[in-house]
Amino acid sequence: MDGPSGSGKSSVSRGVARALGLRYLDTGAMYRAMTWWMLRQGVDLADPAAVAARCGEPRIESGTDPDAPTIHVDGVDVAGPIREAAVTAAVSAVAAVPEVRVRLVALQREIAGTGDIVLEGRDIGTVVCPDATVKVYLTASAEARARRRSAEVAGSTVAAQQEAMARRDALDSTRKTDPLSMAAGAVELDTTALSLDEVIAEVLRLVAE
Ligand code: ADP
Ligand code: CDP
Repeated sequence: MDGPSGSGKSSVSRGVARALGLRYLDTGAMYRAMTWWMLRQGVDLADPAAVAARCGEPRIESGTDPDAPTIHVDGVDVAGPIREAAVTAAVSAVAAVPEVRVRLVALQREIAGTGDIVLEGRDIGTVVCPDATVKVYLTASAEARARRRSAEVAGSTVAAQQEAMARRDALDSTRKTDPLSMAAGAVELDTTALSLDEVIAEVLRLVAE
């Protein structure tokens, strides 16, 4: 499951995994966990060489139960801190460093193993699991995505969310290594006018095909 921020990847992936009795992996949470650790270590995120030099250090562990996904860095539960604004603002820069991607993609493939899992991110169909049985590329209008995200974040406005998302989308889609793009064989699903249950039902239909 790939797509931009707020397209519904996490909620749809968890719903599909639950319905099919599969595991679930939020790869974005792993990039966020790496970013949280870099910020805590005081690594200069404007210096890709510095990020590359340190990215092998943190131990990042993801729990794959769709009902209770977890994320730990060196044994510390970071599920809350990785959603904070400072991490959200910095994550695209860390995710653009090739060495970070090599390390996290290897971890993701190790967790995915031979299957029975729904992975969500930006490069799942193109890089992490090019042989996935079903590939979905979720989209939604910029306004709908910003509306959804601002409903989750206390005190945020739709306009401010839309601006921050546009900045992150641009960074994620134009980076040199594995930019966000639709994979060969992926089905594009525009969720703007669909409810969450409708999107999950559509993905389950694609799986059953
Ligand atoms: P992503 O993982 O792509 O950033 P999320 O799954 O976190 O997106 O969804 C962002 C928010 O939008 C969540 O609060 C979720 O419940 C809501 N949402 C997701 N899909 C839909 C949809 N089709 N209709 C309405 N709200 C949705
Ligand atoms: O919270 P949101 O859904 O917007 O994003 P996320 O899925 O938590 O991902 C956070 C960031 O990690 C993205 O903006 C990308 O920069 C990066 N990412 C990536 O590069 N590759 C992935 N497979 C997943 C996330």
